[in-house]
Amino acid sequence: MDSIVASQRPLAPLYRPDERFEISAAGLQEWYRSDCFRRVVAFYAGYPERSLFSDNGRALLHHLIVTLRPERLLEIGTMYAGTTEVLARATWEAGCGHVETLDPYGAERCPALIAEFLPKLRERVTYRARSSAIHIDQVIAGAGFYDFVLIDGSHELEFAAFDLEGSARVMRPNGIIVLDNIEQVGPRFATKHFLERHPEWIDVAGVVGSMAADRPLDRPKPSFPDSFNFVLQAPPYYVVDDVPRSFGAQPADRGEVRGIELDLAAPADGILHVQAIVRTFGVMPTEERSVTAELALRGGAGPLNVALPEPVLSQVSDRDGIDRRIELIVAFTGGTLRLAIPPTAYPARPR
Ligand SMILES: C[S@@+](CC[C@H](N)C(=O)[O-])C[C@H]1O[C@@H](n2cnc3c(N)ncnc32)[C@H](O)[C@@H]1O
Repeated sequence: MDSIVASQRPLAPLYRPDERFEISAAGLQEWYRSDCFRRVVAFYAGYPERSLFSDNGRALLHHLIVTLRPERLLEIGTMYAGTTEVLARATWEAGCGHVETLDPYGAERCPALIAEFLPKLRERVTYRARSSAIHIDQVIAGAGFYDFVLIDGSHELEFAAFDLEGSARVMRPNGIIVLDNIEQVGPRFATKHFLERHPEWIDVAGVVGSMAADRPLDRPKPSFPDSFNFVLQAPPYYVVDDVPRSFGAQPADRGEVRGIELDLAAPADGILHVQAIVRTFGVMPTEERSVTAELALRGGAGPLNVALPEPVLSQVSDRDGIDRRIELIVAFTGGTLRLAIPPTAYPARPR
């Protein structure tokens, strides 16, 4: 493969300090009409050659990242790392953010391509030769999160649907997901079904709902002109409703849960359903203890400790070789619970 060093454009900010736009349908339209857009799209016209995005799509990614200033970014599907360079350039201009990029079939190709990035871009990128399924599993197990995900891996409907559900699962409030190749049925219908299941998510340009139900093969309107992208934004809080929501099985320092700590993003009035599970590995047989409770919850925004009617206590004493995991599952009926941060157990703490 030819070296890409010669074709690397120098680092240059594309935005003027006073150029700020909203992440909304109106904000994207305003940006599309601006000098700022013309400058950004001119920079990305036909560049980087190895990117499989359209010119406007690359400009859109740069714009969303400079506007949102995400801390942790994920690209599912590195291919030739051309779009990875766009993500890295945008984080460089934003002055924050690190890009993780995945491709299970790229171990022979991707590290060498990324090694040829300009040093200030290279240091903003971590490549992993793993699939989105293995990666998201590990992110959940480590209580990780993202603020920006580009879904551009397998475009089969079932894979695109998994990538979207999995990314949403680890997305922080207000985070953004961009899907590529919505001209293909997989990413397109994965997005449509996802929004039907998660009405609290924002279809930023309001285009997904305009897909004609009786013309399933019609090319849809993208979120931005001359792109092949849908742009979705997470709600500004973690939403809990009548579908139980797990916050993952996290490593913990002890096998004892007496209650959970909540941070309400908005007043709540309804019934909180909690299941707290303590699992202990490193003993045979492994131990699992669990308590479920239904508690009336009424409170204003802010932190709130909710005691369980009885504690969950492991019968296995703390000793070397013991691995504790605590999983909290919550549901809310009679209303919607909006949390500023994921719930945590007490007195056990993440390890
Ligand atoms: C459309 S290309 C990515 C293009 C690249 N993002 C760009 O814009 O230049 C799709 C890539 O996804 C990778 N891929 C396939 N299945 C995947 C999975 N389960 N997880 C992550 N990447 C996957 C493929 O190996 C392929 O390189």
